Amino acid sequence: MEKFLIQGGIPLKGEVDISGGKNSSLPILCACILARGVSTIRNVPLLRDINVLLRLFETLGISFSRNNKMIKIDASEINSQFASYDLVKQMRASILVLGPLIARFGFAEVSLPGGCAIGQRPVDIHLSCLEKMGCQINVSNGYIKAKVKHLIGAKLDLKRSVTATENLLMAATLADGETTLINPAPEPEVTELISFLNSMGALINVENSTKIVVKGVKFLNPGKITVKPDRIEAATFLISGLATRGSVSIVGSDFNELDCVKKKLTLSGAKISGGNDFLKVEYCGKLIAVDIETGSYPCFPTDIQAQYMVLNAIAKGTSVMTENIFENRFLHVQELNRLGADIYIKGKKAFIKGVRSLSGAKVLATDLRASACLVIAGLVADFKTEVDRVYHIDRGYEKIEVKLTALGAKIFRTNV
Ligand code: UD1
Repeated sequence: MEKFLIQGGIPLKGEVDISGGKNSSLPILCACILARGVSTIRNVPLLRDINVLLRLFETLGISFSRNNKMIKIDASEINSQFASYDLVKQMRASILVLGPLIARFGFAEVSLPGGCAIGQRPVDIHLSCLEKMGCQINVSNGYIKAKVKHLIGAKLDLKRSVTATENLLMAATLADGETTLINPAPEPEVTELISFLNSMGALINVENSTKIVVKGVKFLNPGKITVKPDRIEAATFLISGLATRGSVSIVGSDFNELDCVKKKLTLSGAKISGGNDFLKVEYCGKLIAVDIETGSYPCFPTDIQAQYMVLNAIAKGTSVMTENIFENRFLHVQELNRLGADIYIKGKKAFIKGVRSLSGAKVLATDLRASACLVIAGLVADFKTEVDRVYHIDRGYEKIEVKLTALGAKIFRTNV
């Protein structure tokens, strides 16, 4: 199993290109299922999760070609509507094929995503909303079997679930009549999916932050899109820059959707500057503890909570970080404490007392964002840190060790 060896204590300096968004690419690729013909998706990151989705596409009989970051999907012919447990268990977002398959074929059999380290993550919202659109759903032997003659528009409460909103948006595009999505997830990745679907001929209207109306159409055309940079990867590099007491510019966008994180970084003591195509973080001689509470966009993203905890762990003062989205997303805390942090958890809150420094040790990555947290901690810590099970990080960070090395880090991938 591969691991990272990190020699910490080096301030990161320089510029880093941010790859296309993982959480944008996955639903956009699934949306291609809705249209016959060839869709072209550019700037798709080179990630394990994308590879898993493409393997799933292969099993559905969907043709595609990949040229570095450009993927062409030809969904003219699809000869299976079955998503196996073997693939879905590797990536929960595989559930995103459910909506498009039902919308186009009136039938799909998709494995229930299994348990997940960070929380229970049920799919009840996806299923109850599809039922409201007329779908017959039968869950048995670990599989969701969904069947419908034709989806009918309905009023759906999405409870701000991101992938449920995406699944139901895709399903609603081809339904009979009008579908109203109440409490849709407000995340930028949902907005990106909507503009892709509309470019394919869908009629989706965002009326306000709590209501989206979709008028069903008979068919969609194939689409073209360039995926926007990944805001979570972007934030991870900003945090790495500040935590190592360096200065890092992330390049590729104005990163406006990171406003909440930018404000927190400023409160943590950073100087933040930016332009149309970059955002820069600079250490200014101090790190100050700040309270954080995660929430739906535009609040602080749960996907950045673990990484930010490293900053608070080495900042002056005490802070409280509250995780409001997932019930078990503090698995990184025990590993950070092994590196010398002083953190205890009570319910959905982590109480953090800043320490002067962290010291390297062997640690175990438990999930995607926890792995990123441990890599940042390793970059900060004295001596050597070994982060085991880096396959988690390969799910969501493209060549992270190459990008960090270009910023001056000493980080090596090894499987010994
Ligand atoms: C997506 C993101 C993930 C991010 C999360 C929250 C993708 C591929 N993944 O995950 O990176 O951390 O949003 O921003 O985009 N819930 C239910 N029933 C459901 C669905 C969700 O109870 O049917 C609960 C979940 O358990 C969780 C909360 O709703 O507590 C939010 O989850 P959700 O927004 O659905 O997260 P994902 O879409 O799985």
